Amino acid sequence: MRGDYLNWPRLVEDALSKWGSVSVEGPFENIVVSGMGGSGIVGDVVKLLALERLSVPVEVVKSHIVPSYVSTRTLFVSVSYSGNTHETLLATARALEKGARVVAVTSGGLLERLAVERGLPVFKTPAGLLPRVSFPHMLTGVLGVLDSSGLTVASRAEVEEAKRQLEREAGEIAGEASSLAEFAYSRELLVVATHSPLEPLAVRAKSEFNENSKIVVKVDVAPEWMHNDIVGYEKPLFDEYRVVAFYDPDDQAGRGLVEFMVGEHERRGRRVRVLALRGANKVGKVLYAAMLFGLASVELALKRGLDPAATESIARYKSAAGRIFGTGPLKP
Ligand code: PA5
Repeated sequence: MRGDYLNWPRLVEDALSKWGSVSVEGPFENIVVSGMGGSGIVGDVVKLLALERLSVPVEVVKSHIVPSYVSTRTLFVSVSYSGNTHETLLATARALEKGARVVAVTSGGLLERLAVERGLPVFKTPAGLLPRVSFPHMLTGVLGVLDSSGLTVASRAEVEEAKRQLEREAGEIAGEASSLAEFAYSRELLVVATHSPLEPLAVRAKSEFNENSKIVVKVDVAPEWMHNDIVGYEKPLFDEYRVVAFYDPDDQAGRGLVEFMVGEHERRGRRVRVLALRGANKVGKVLYAAMLFGLASVELALKRGLDPAATESIARYKSAAGRIFGTGPLKP
């Protein structure tokens, strides 16, 4: 899997070659991005990139339930790498019932079939990868769809610049990832801490360590952290933890918030690793963080003698999902 992560510049390049191939005509009052796990994180990152750039709200749906405001004026982006995820398929069906304009991002499965049957635009991502490894391709695909639909949250030039950065720095990122894996290889709970609005990157880090390394991770986000969690660290029942904290060096307040968190943990004698995100632009910082945490989580799995690709319990859940949602098993 290490090689798959290091191949990310090629994945971005492939998705860039299809930039502009899918567009949807507005106007739209809102954008909803639906998806779970390694596909769902695409929506979180789109929301992050849209924060200071788009005048329409972006909502992320990580369940089978869609917001009541979804309507004919909604651009609904349905992201499922496999195309066979219950929650995403149910949410997409509900969005279609409400008349939303739906775009599918998938490597195939039932989502692609639904899109073909309903004449919906599809951005195809290459099959044969793991969903979480396909992240930069699906993200670039969605950024391209939004840009071509007059809803730019990142331009093609910004994504190209981010890709060049990954190409230049992949070796260095792999080195940092090894050191991070060394740090995380401990019996202590791993806490990933950051500042708003970078929560999606901390969630991505958590999910990568969950799925690849098979460990439990806690996510802490400042400044909300200063209003509740901070007190929980005063007298925790379980206080064996270590912290990976990261900040955006171009965000002075964000950096100050993370430094404050770090100070709190250090005065309790906890071990803390602090990272500054690198990147010429926001997409670059996202890809840097995602590659760093992805590689570190794979390294940690290998150190533990585990297969980073295997996610047995997700498969167990997926085979029960049809019963839970009352839809019966999927028939691909
Ligand atoms: O990374 C993974 O394998 C998971 O988190 C999946 O992305 C998640 O189970 C959803 O599946 P899919 O991405 O195929 O919709």
